[in-house]
Amino acid sequence: MRLPRLALAGVVAATMAVTGVMASGGGATGAQPSTLKDLGSQVGLRIGTAVNTDVLSTDAAYRSITATQFSTVTPENVMKWDAVEPTQGTYNWTAADQLVAFAKANGQKVRGHTLVWESQLPAWLTSGTFTNDQLKALLHKHITDEVTHFKGNIWQWDVVNEAFNDDGTLRDTPWLRAIGPDYIADAFRWAHEADPKALLFYNDYNIEGMGPKSDAVYALLSKLKAQGVPIDGVGLQGHLDTQYGLPSDITGNLLRFASLHLYSAFTEADVRTFVPVTGAELLAEGAGYNAMLQSCLQVARCISFTVWGWSDKWSWVPRVFTGEGSADLYDENYQPKEAYAAVQQTLQLAGGAPYRYGQS
Ligand code: G3I
Repeated sequence: MRLPRLALAGVVAATMAVTGVMASGGGATGAQPSTLKDLGSQVGLRIGTAVNTDVLSTDAAYRSITATQFSTVTPENVMKWDAVEPTQGTYNWTAADQLVAFAKANGQKVRGHTLVWESQLPAWLTSGTFTNDQLKALLHKHITDEVTHFKGNIWQWDVVNEAFNDDGTLRDTPWLRAIGPDYIADAFRWAHEADPKALLFYNDYNIEGMGPKSDAVYALLSKLKAQGVPIDGVGLQGHLDTQYGLPSDITGNLLRFASLHLYSAFTEADVRTFVPVTGAELLAEGAGYNAMLQSCLQVARCISFTVWGWSDKWSWVPRVFTGEGSADLYDENYQPKEAYAAVQQTLQLAGGAPYRYGQS
């Protein structure tokens, strides 16, 4: 196992980011690749974004940047249960199918998000009265029907999303209450039966570095692997906030998951701060993105780096965190920010050191 030069390159990248943004969003113009997806492909890393399909269908500039900068897409909302089955037994795949077609047309892979969550469940499910056995059967049917519908078109599925509390205890969800802790293993088995080729991920936030929550996820995934449950990877969402500093030992965390023969992926990266934003905070955002990206680049089993939307214009952050925003790579006018430059320069420097832990 060789020590990657990237550790040093990362420091240089962070310094270089101060010099400013190097490319616009449109695409490569010179001989050297400059889009994030082309730079990522030089080091075997897919660079992805969450996509708001309402905007995708109406905004040509949004479509253009989504197509040229990224090599994977994740539906921000339209594969969630409330979106695909608004009325019990009646599916609406339209928006999700359109995104899959967009990805195909642009040579992109799709991350499916998400099959089992406690949030964004259809009203008929949350307000209905069901026995525990009925709930288990409904979850089985939901997973089977959705994975079957998209079979062959999904690279990675977020099978189970956000099952843990920050202290490492299991979150009290309808699925835990109805089925017990085995709902997680069941969900992976059901998804695998429906599409044996899709990579199946457990996905959560606040598990980027070492801590009680990532310890609990590590313990669970170790157990699932030992039991032969078909799980392929761990998704680290990567919702950072400049006021809290950086997660600790992200690389060590990725390496311990790799030691279980699991892939890892950053699945929802963004770095929020208080607005109006200062120059220092813009640089801190870039440092946040880079901390995650540099660790991912160092670990061969970290196979994709996805941002949770690329423009501040459509970010979920201001709706949820009062007074905060500016979490994305591009501003509200689709202009690349310091964070874009930081990510781009890190990928450029990584191209000069194309080996990673786990490759000899
Ligand atoms: O679809 C309804 C629409 O009919 C209604 O008119 C409108 C009125 O507000 O709401 C629409 O639903 C919104 C939905 O997004 C679709 O746009 C919800 O209000 C809104 O709360 C929901 O927010 C999403 C959030 O998940 C819900 O938990 C965000 O867009 C989405 O970015 C966010 O994504 C999650 C990941 O799935 C999991 N990890 C955390 C991440 C951020 O919260």
